[in-house]
Amino acid sequence: MEQNNIAIEVRNLKKHFRTKLENVKALDDISFNVKSGEIFGLLGPNGAGKTTTINILIGLIKPTDGSATIYGYDIQDHISKAKELIGVCPQEHAVFKFLSGRENIELFGNLYSMPKDKIKKRADELIDKLNFSNASKHKTKGYSGGMLSQLNLIISIINNPKIIFLDEPTVGMDPRARRKTWEFIGNFKNERKTVLLTTHYIEEAEALCDRVAIIDYGELLDIGSPKDLMKKYESDNLEDVFMNITGRKIMEGM
Ligand SMILES: Nc1ncnc2c1ncn2[C@@H]1O[C@H](COP(=O)(O)OP(=O)(O)OP(=O)(O)O)[C@@H](O)[C@H]1O
Ligand SMILES: [Mg+2]
Repeated sequence: MEQNNIAIEVRNLKKHFRTKLENVKALDDISFNVKSGEIFGLLGPNGAGKTTTINILIGLIKPTDGSATIYGYDIQDHISKAKELIGVCPQEHAVFKFLSGRENIELFGNLYSMPKDKIKKRADELIDKLNFSNASKHKTKGYSGGMLSQLNLIISIINNPKIIFLDEPTVGMDPRARRKTWEFIGNFKNERKTVLLTTHYIEEAEALCDRVAIIDYGELLDIGSPKDLMKKYESDNLEDVFMNITGRKIMEGM
């Protein structure tokens, strides 16, 4: 199945959340493909449906309607096959506070049943690439938001996955750490990995993504390379593209 050059296929995905107060249409008929080896971005403001899309694709929640495949594996019928191919960096940092950064990384390597020497080698390599050596020795309860984001990212790829889901990967990072992380994520292309990332940072989408899907209130408004979208909407940046389509700023009220 993996000869397919479509890594992720999303067809007419809908997700409604029913709460006591209302029925929220978190995703309203979203369709897109992510090509193998591509860095693909979901760009949209708070509540647009970015995390919901990822959570469905990684099998955490079920769609109300529609379907999706990961390298041909249907996420409802063959989620365990799909899970073998993916790494996930969740929006909420999933780390143990009373362990050091390195202990957290090793713990997750163990959960994937990786051999000890492989875990150490991979941890060393990732810690080095992200300049995380000093921080990795300390307990994570003292970490800043940016340090937690870096650790979260390292953990998500400890098992060397083919497809990486990054939900707001650089939240809380200072500009230097953010640039380092962009460089790091950009290098996944050399390793022929596929990345689906969500962001509401315009610069992040422009710097990293081959193509971007702009989403708002659960609807996919347009899709294309940052350059093509800017040309289409006669804009100098993706913020203006979003403004031209919706009449609002992405970061408004954030
Ligand atoms: N478990 C849930 N129950 C009810 N509503 C939910 C649930 N999860 C998400 N929603 C709603 O679905 C919509 C989409 O949420 P989602 O978290 O996917 O947005 P997002 O684009 O990731 O936003 P953010 O940028 O804030 O992370 C929002 O209106 C949110 O309140
Ligand atoms: Mg989110």
